[in-house]
Amino acid sequence: MSSRRHGMKAVVVVVVIAHVLLCHVAGGGGGVPAVIVFGDSTADTGNNNFIQTMARGNYPPYGRDFAGGVATGRFSNGRLAADFVSEALGLPPAVPPYLDPSHSIHQLASGVSFASAGTGLDNITAQILSAMTLSQQIDHFRQYKEKLRWAKGEAAAHHIISQALYILSVGTSDFLHNYLVFPIRGNRFTLPRYEAYLAGAAAGAVRAVHGLGGRRVKLAGLPPLGCLPVERTINPDRPGDCNEMYNMVALSFNARLKRLIGRLNWELPGAQVEYVDQYSILSAIIAKPWEYGFGNSMQGCCGTGFVETGILCALDDALACDDADKYVFFDAVHPSERAYKIIADAFINTTSPVFH
Ligand SMILES: *[C@@H]1O[C@H](CO)[C@@H](O)[C@H](O)[C@H]1NC(C)=O
Ligand SMILES: *[C@@H]1O[C@H](CO)[C@@H](O)[C@H](O)[C@H]1NC(C)=O
Repeated sequence: MSSRRHGMKAVVVVVVIAHVLLCHVAGGGGGVPAVIVFGDSTADTGNNNFIQTMARGNYPPYGRDFAGGVATGRFSNGRLAADFVSEALGLPPAVPPYLDPSHSIHQLASGVSFASAGTGLDNITAQILSAMTLSQQIDHFRQYKEKLRWAKGEAAAHHIISQALYILSVGTSDFLHNYLVFPIRGNRFTLPRYEAYLAGAAAGAVRAVHGLGGRRVKLAGLPPLGCLPVERTINPDRPGDCNEMYNMVALSFNARLKRLIGRLNWELPGAQVEYVDQYSILSAIIAKPWEYGFGNSMQGCCGTGFVETGILCALDDALACDDADKYVFFDAVHPSERAYKIIADAFINTTSPVFH
């Protein structure tokens, strides 16, 4: 009897140890081995530094609150939402850019960004600033997968690709650079048709990632476009106020994305596509910045705060604000690091249980 009890105890101990070991091997993030990112300047961690383009953020004041004060190419004073998500999963605190030759494939195995500032769902949007199209980003992902198989072996590569968290953050430039502010696409598409076209392109990107083995895809919706500082400045009806028409466009496109995600989950075997609601959290912060510890939600920190982004921020570096943590936006288009942290927290709080 007593020896049998000992036997049971031993089994329990072994099971507990095995469980602890498995959880340890799986990492702190409930088994997410990597964060893999596609998209535009909200997700580009430095790829554009390695291509011919005007859309770069690798000079001050960008990066002034990044580790070591380095301007990495991120369009912010510090890290982006994807960096914080990676850190929250127990992965590296900064997601490296694919095109940076100083990162080995072993470093990229725990996360990589293929994003390119200035790109869109529409190939024409990417052309405006010579950014990498989404198709080019997917081609790089295909290449990355091959390198992983070569470096890590078939089984490990399959584990990384199938269990990774994929983040797709893109669309703002399509509406702003290509339709609403500069109506390049306005000749060919009505607004609802352009939205449908872009949603089709987003579906194409998700199908491509799924086809290459990705399963957990987080598709970010648009932010409140009309409340980006530059859109307030050029608001023709009420300068300084949010452009409500632009916000309506963002809401309408986001609703379309949500419906699309429902269809994709039904269509693609094993897919776990989820919508990331940036709109609600950013609108909440913009409406009541003080509740989140911000002093200014209407202007960017760099330059005058009304219009500057990219190289214009560098031209009047001396004008930049003292404490970017008090600003929702770091330039007239892009959130500050602290705003990105809150967006990432909202994402972590509401997303499926990959976080513990
Ligand atoms: C963008 O271009 C690529 C390559 O030319 C093409 O395969 C893809 O379908 C295009 N995307 C859209 C949305 O038209
Ligand atoms: C996320 O959850 C934490 C812990 O419950 C909470 O303190 C924080 O305010 C939440 N953040 C957001 C942006 O929802």
